[in-house]
Amino acid sequence: MRSFAHRQRLQQRGLAREEFLGRPVIAIINTWSDLSPCHAHLRERAEAVRRGILQAGGFPFELPALSLGEVMVKPTTMLYRNFLAMECEELLRSHPIDGAVLLGGCDKTTPGLLMGALSMDIPAIYCPAGPMLNDRYRGNTVGAGTHTKKFYDEYMAGNIQQREWIHLESKMTRAPGTCNTMGTASTMTAMAEAMGFCLPGATSIPAMDANHERMASACGRRIVDMVWEDLKPSTFFSRASVDNALAVYMALGGSTNAAIHTIAVAGRGGVSLQLSDMEAVASRVPVIANLFPSGDRLMEDFFYAGGLPALMQEIRAHLNLAAGTVTGHTLGENIEGAQNLDPEVIRPVTRPVSTGRALAVLRGNLCPDGAIMKPSAASPKFMKHRGCALVFDSNEEMLAKVNDLSADVEESTVMILRNAGPVGAPGMPEWGNLPIPKKLLREGVRDMVRISDARMSGTHYGSCIVHVAPESAIGGPLALVKTGDWISLDVEARQLNVEVSDAELAERRKQWQAPARFTERGFTRLYVDHVTQADKGCDFDFLMGTAKTPEPPIY
Ligand code: FES
Repeated sequence: MRSFAHRQRLQQRGLAREEFLGRPVIAIINTWSDLSPCHAHLRERAEAVRRGILQAGGFPFELPALSLGEVMVKPTTMLYRNFLAMECEELLRSHPIDGAVLLGGCDKTTPGLLMGALSMDIPAIYCPAGPMLNDRYRGNTVGAGTHTKKFYDEYMAGNIQQREWIHLESKMTRAPGTCNTMGTASTMTAMAEAMGFCLPGATSIPAMDANHERMASACGRRIVDMVWEDLKPSTFFSRASVDNALAVYMALGGSTNAAIHTIAVAGRGGVSLQLSDMEAVASRVPVIANLFPSGDRLMEDFFYAGGLPALMQEIRAHLNLAAGTVTGHTLGENIEGAQNLDPEVIRPVTRPVSTGRALAVLRGNLCPDGAIMKPSAASPKFMKHRGCALVFDSNEEMLAKVNDLSADVEESTVMILRNAGPVGAPGMPEWGNLPIPKKLLREGVRDMVRISDARMSGTHYGSCIVHVAPESAIGGPLALVKTGDWISLDVEARQLNVEVSDAELAERRKQWQAPARFTERGFTRLYVDHVTQADKGCDFDFLMGTAKTPEPPIY
């Protein structure tokens, strides 16, 4: 009865029975929207995927999903990553689908789609949006985010004029595609490929390159075969997939955001991942991709250098080459023959880009469950530092005070922002790269130690310690710090502490009151009730793990 209705309704669309009978039904989950400029080309790419599916004998249909354009969503797309994960899972569950091609790329779309696909566990392949093209400005190669912060600091210091600042709006983002730095988008798509979810080299292809459309149609052809092979994520996704992704993350000098997303994605695939696991990989895999912000090149250069397969060849000693992938071959077979065509962009492991590692996990009485920083994009002079705390209780307070020219602040001051975590903000926005106070900018200061329970953009750099857990809004120790307390940071010893006695902290805790709840309704209510902390991946507590949702009864 139900299949009769399905066939009847397809014919209502004008399709003849022979166009769909006996063919694998393939969903194209598309995160295109007018408000996601990074995905502006995904409508056309969906057509290329459709072409590939038809060529291989499948039956395609496209399903739109939450687009999560990174800079367009307030207060942060992180608030909605789990929403997309749920949407992807439920789209795949509620419709009659045999396999799926997932179209995403802008920051949270990659983890969101992978989390949903892992939980649903039907054959799925990831088709990444690809990075945007480089641009040029005053003799410099620029891209999304490469110079925004730098020019903003110079603008606030009075070194560039408003006219030039406005002119910059039309530079840096030259074409559709994801940010072309080693920001969160490029980090997460590369990790998806290293986990085995993409065709070899797919994530390095610029969005506007003809190779990109060819890759999209190849995804369409491959997913049909995957359905016949019953190649579900659970058949190839494993601890080895996650370890390979972590090695790639560190070699790329990837975004700090990946620390959260990888824990969440791994958890959906049944792999328990701790911050200490990441720390171990970071300590042995050097940063070899000369990509901004750890280096000075962009994703287009990375593509010309051979892209991710070439980078994986350089770190093959750190990879589990036997791990399975969507191709039906191992990762080792996928990268066989890949060559590094530009050792200045992809360095050999003997000549890394930075002596600093991509990730340091800090512990101490300020962050008992961990905090992270990116030494490869921070000032070496702050790797061991002691300074007086300047505490802001909210982002609004910080923004209102940071440009006060009479502020009592020095280069050695440790700026602290709290109530900016998963529950406190809510959604853990990218506020962790606190602006340098205007007074100090005018004195030539361009970096300071900054601590928060927020995240920071993958394109940001500086001595920022983020993801402090547990967060202040639920009573983490960050809530107890006062302006004037001494803070000590020792990155080599992986320690972050406030120099206040346990007895005094206990006394302050008695006085502490939780901030007012942000909302009592809607998705945000669901979010703050169920989101886990940064060291657990910020997934919802009721979605973690591999337990299956029962298929609803059908009539
Ligand atoms: Fe979309 Fe950076 S804003 S990838």
